[in-house]
Amino acid sequence: MSNEADVEVVVTAVKQSTKYGDASEATIRELAAEAVRQHKKTKPAIKAVRARLHSIMAPYLGDPDYTAEAARLDAAFAAHDTTAIDAICQDCLYAHLSTRERLPIMADFYERIFAITGRPQSILDIACGLNPLALRWMGLALVSNEQLAARSGRVRFYAYDIHEPRIAFINHYFRLEGLPELARVQDVAMDFPQEAADVALFLKEMPRFERNYGGRGRPLLEALRARFLVISYPTISTHGGRNLTNRYREFMFQLIQGHDWPVTELLFAGELVFIVEKKSEDSKSGFA
Ligand SMILES: C[S@@+](CC[C@H](N)C(=O)[O-])C[C@H]1O[C@@H](n2cnc3c(N)ncnc32)[C@H](O)[C@@H]1O
Repeated sequence: MSNEADVEVVVTAVKQSTKYGDASEATIRELAAEAVRQHKKTKPAIKAVRARLHSIMAPYLGDPDYTAEAARLDAAFAAHDTTAIDAICQDCLYAHLSTRERLPIMADFYERIFAITGRPQSILDIACGLNPLALRWMGLALVSNEQLAARSGRVRFYAYDIHEPRIAFINHYFRLEGLPELARVQDVAMDFPQEAADVALFLKEMPRFERNYGGRGRPLLEALRARFLVISYPTISTHGGRNLTNRYREFMFQLIQGHDWPVTELLFAGELVFIVEKKSEDSKSGFA
């Protein structure tokens, strides 16, 4: 069998698997090509791709039932029931560990970040998970559908992830909020986001990203066309309960070493945030 045919076999097998079939085909294909180069047979190549996807997608962090939650949101929006909409968004955020941990600090989190960056008109949420469902706690002056026609400066919320049902669900939610469907299935390690924005969020993913894609973190941050980068880290390890604050502070400064980017640090219960201003250097290339 040719290499290309082997890659096809691996892609088809992984795409059909219950656990990893939700991953973007482009990501699976890239990993399959690499695995086929390393393994003579397709069976170990499939196993290798599944192992990489396990680390990249972290399915153990949890997912809501997307179909059921979309139906609940439809009913709540149709009834203009704000309390129910908020409760469903919170249920979805609760279903994934990263956002579950952020729930108790969520409103304060965005208020303090945007007090530094200014209230953004445009956001990139990179490796977003379910975080776009926190939109109602970002203080971005969402307007109701009746006001939509009159609204000029709608927030542009770009969200990127490789998990297909998650992105479809986020676009469904954006549509119900009257926002443009700017969530994208995009592998940001292979394909850096090109959109310009006021603020780019890269929350609780950098250590895993560096581990999975060895050294792509710094070029990604350099490529992002955002005035402010908001990069966060968990302060406590998921498994051992170790305090990671000092380790991640050092890691962050190494990552952006040599750049003349002012940094503000915010420490929340459970999350360490760095707000990096790229303005000085990138104003040369002229982003939004
Ligand atoms: C730990 S979750 C973080 C969720 C979110 N940023 C938060 O803090 O709430 C990591 C997310 O990154 C996504 N991801 C991992 N690698 C990616 C890549 N190369 N491109 C796009 N998304 C990626 C995963 O699918 C997952 O949804």
